[in-house]
Amino acid sequence: MTPGVPRTRTLVSMALLVAAVLAGASLAWAQHHRHGGGEQGVAASAKDDREFVRFPDALREHTLANMRDHLLALQEIQEAMARGQEAVASRVAEQRLGMSSLGLHGAHEVAKYMPQGMQDIGSQMHRNASRFAIEIQNSGATGDLKPALESLSNVTSVCVACHAAYRLR
Ligand code: HEC
Repeated sequence: MTPGVPRTRTLVSMALLVAAVLAGASLAWAQHHRHGGGEQGVAASAKDDREFVRFPDALREHTLANMRDHLLALQEIQEAMARGQEAVASRVAEQRLGMSSLGLHGAHEVAKYMPQGMQDIGSQMHRNASRFAIEIQNSGATGDLKPALESLSNVTSVCVACHAAYRLR
């Protein structure tokens, strides 16, 4: 064994160490800046501190199916907006996400299993979706989609807020 080999190994492991420290630092940076303004890339954080909420099995299944329909509704809304079908976007938002969807979702039944904070976020989603349903009708009249897009982002931001705080079991 030449004296140079261990030295090279030391240099390599030092380089790896530095790389690991830098990677750790940039992850910490990304996590730290997650809540800043502008483009918020969500660093996939290994630590999951969402609150567990216990639902009866059948209700959990029902709720998750509902959630998948929420996502489908958003997709249908975006498609309708792109096609200039404001009335369709408005109807989907009001009936599937808005105040009119409360009966559909069995909101009354589900609410009693939710912590207050989760209930509040849920109510906010229905309110914001109903507001969007009006905003997109206005867009149909003015030809300006921007206010409706902003209003739609106020709907998805509520999805994001609840998902960041709670999970089911
Ligand atoms: C009041 C809270 C709340 C709101 C508002 C909310 N969700 Fe959820 N959603 C949850 C919870 C809790 C889960 C389960 C997450 C877990 O257990 O990891 C979930 C799961 C989901 C899932 C996964 C479904 C599956 O089959 O696993 C989708 C998709 C989803 N939500 C879409 C949406 C969309 C889109 C919106 C907004 C239009 C939305 N959700 C609004 C609480 C919420």
